[in-house]
Amino acid sequence: MASDPYAKIVDTEPALVRTIGERLEVRAAHPDQRAMLDAYLADIVWPQDARVVEIGCGTGPVARALASRPEPGAVLGLDPSPILIERAKELASGLPKLTFEVGDARNLAQADATFDVVVFHTALCHIPGPEKALAEARRILKSGGWLAVFDGDYASATVAIAEHDPLQACSRAVTDHNVMDRWIVRRLPAMANAAGFNITRFRSHGYAEVVDPVYMLGHAERGAEVLAAQGVIGADLAEALKREARRRVTDHAFFGHIAYASLVARKP
Ligand SMILES: C[S@@+](CC[C@H](N)C(=O)[O-])C[C@H]1O[C@@H](n2cnc3c(N)ncnc32)[C@H](O)[C@@H]1O
Repeated sequence: MASDPYAKIVDTEPALVRTIGERLEVRAAHPDQRAMLDAYLADIVWPQDARVVEIGCGTGPVARALASRPEPGAVLGLDPSPILIERAKELASGLPKLTFEVGDARNLAQADATFDVVVFHTALCHIPGPEKALAEARRILKSGGWLAVFDGDYASATVAIAEHDPLQACSRAVTDHNVMDRWIVRRLPAMANAAGFNITRFRSHGYAEVVDPVYMLGHAERGAEVLAAQGVIGADLAEALKREARRRVTDHAFFGHIAYASLVARKP
C-alpha cells in the first residue's frame, strides 16, 4: 500500500522511524523468530569465509545474527534509512565482521560479483519494485552465490478466534497499512526464476503467539489505531478493540498467527 512507512522510510517522520527500529528489535528477539532465521540459513551451503550482505537490514538484528555465525567472513548491512543505520552501528559494537552502509536495494553501490550470499529478511515486501531489487542482488552475487529471501505471507496474518471476529479487521487494517505487498511470497518463486535464479528450497514457517504475545498483540492494537486514524471507527471503539485484545491475553484466549516463507536460490 502507498501508506507503507517502510517503503518510503527516508521520508517517514524520524520519531516513527525510531519506534519502528525498536519494534524490529523486539520482534527479532523472539526465540521463534530466531529459529525461523536459523532454519532457512541452514538451507544454504555456506562457502568458507562467505561475504554476506543483508539488504533492508533496519537496525541490524539479522545482520548481527549472521555476523555471530562461524561461516561468514564479512557481513554488510544495507538500509536506505540513515536513522536505522546509525542505530544498527550502535547495536553492533563488538562485532568486528559487521559493517553497515546506507543503500537502496534497487540501485546498489556494490560492484558486480562481489558477494557469496545475499539476504532479504522481511524486506522485499516493503520495497517498491522488488524485481529491480532481485536483479541487483543477482548482479552483486558471484556465480554460484546464494540468495535467501524470507518474508511474511501477510495475506495469512490473523488474530481471529472465530468467524466475524472484529479483531480480524484490525489485523487486516494493519497489514494493509504497513505492508506494500502482502501477497509477495506467493509470487516469489516466479519472481526469483524470472530474475535468473535457480531455486533450491522454498518452504513455509508458521509463527503463532498465544502465551505472552508481543508482536501479534501489537499488530492487533496498531490495527485498531489505524482504523481510528482512517476515520473508519471512533476512538472509543478503537480503545474497546485494544481492551478486547488485552482481555484475551489475560484470559488465555489470545491467538495470533502468521505464516512466513523462505526461498533459497542460486545464481547459475
Ligand atoms: C520490516 S523491516 C526489516 C528489517 C530487518 N531486515 C529485520 O528483519 O529486522 C524492512 C526494512 O526494509 C527497508 N527498506 C525499505 N525500502 C528499501 C529499499 N528500497 N532498499 C532497501 N531496504 C529498504 C526499511 O528501511 C526497513 O528497514
